[in-house]
Amino acid sequence: MQIKINRQNNIEEYQIPFKSTTLLKALYHIKNYTDNTLTFSSNCRSGVCGACAVRVNGKEVLACSYNFKDGDLVEPLAYHEIQRDLKVNKQKARETLKDSTAWLHQPQKSTISQEQVTLTEKQTDCILCDSCYSSCPVLEVNPNFIGPFALTRAYRYTSDPREGDIQSIVDNIQTNGVWDCTLCGNCTEVCPQGIDPKMDITMLRSTSAQFGYSDPNFQAMSFGSDFGFGGF
Ligand code: SF4
Ligand code: SF4
Ligand code: FES
Repeated sequence: MQIKINRQNNIEEYQIPFKSTTLLKALYHIKNYTDNTLTFSSNCRSGVCGACAVRVNGKEVLACSYNFKDGDLVEPLAYHEIQRDLKVNKQKARETLKDSTAWLHQPQKSTISQEQVTLTEKQTDCILCDSCYSSCPVLEVNPNFIGPFALTRAYRYTSDPREGDIQSIVDNIQTNGVWDCTLCGNCTEVCPQGIDPKMDITMLRSTSAQFGYSDPNFQAMSFGSDFGFGGF
């Protein structure tokens, strides 16, 4: 079996002497027996920590959960500073959590029903692997876009009955936030935790509308004479 790895924009090929194993084991095999300079991130090795996310043939996977196939091309996550080979700096993506202010602003006492827990249970499973962020086409054109995992977390807190100041969170996700998403669904497709950021962003748009916001792209559209109603 052969895999290709994009190392600082050089595609290098490696032979792996076994079949049907995880990509992470293959990377460790290369490091231990072929080239000990190969650099990548891992920690739990069991799909829990999110450290080992990479792109395979253009799609984000967790290396410890993905069984590699002959000819696979392995690359680092997109929109991240590459530190070396497959290891990236996740700091810039983490900043989006600050931008979205996705935390409890004004905690208040509240009884939380099981139904309410279930509503945002999935979102709390985020392991910050950054797969969704890497898959998002909006970041290609707007590097300041808050991005999917931070918006998913914002949704989690706007739905929390203990939050006494939902307005602040909603205010903070209007610029480079909910309305910039194209609802393409890439983030939902790649999330290893089964989280649906696209749906969460849709819900956040609805919450934003309740606070008087609307889609600025829609507002910018010109009505009236453009539709032939002028001059009457
Ligand atoms: S649905 Fe929105 S946030 Fe998710 S990848 Fe597409 S544009 Fe990005
Ligand atoms: S939402 Fe999913 S894909 Fe995005 S960082 Fe969290 S676990 Fe990873
Ligand atoms: S090493 Fe922790 S998720 Fe893969």
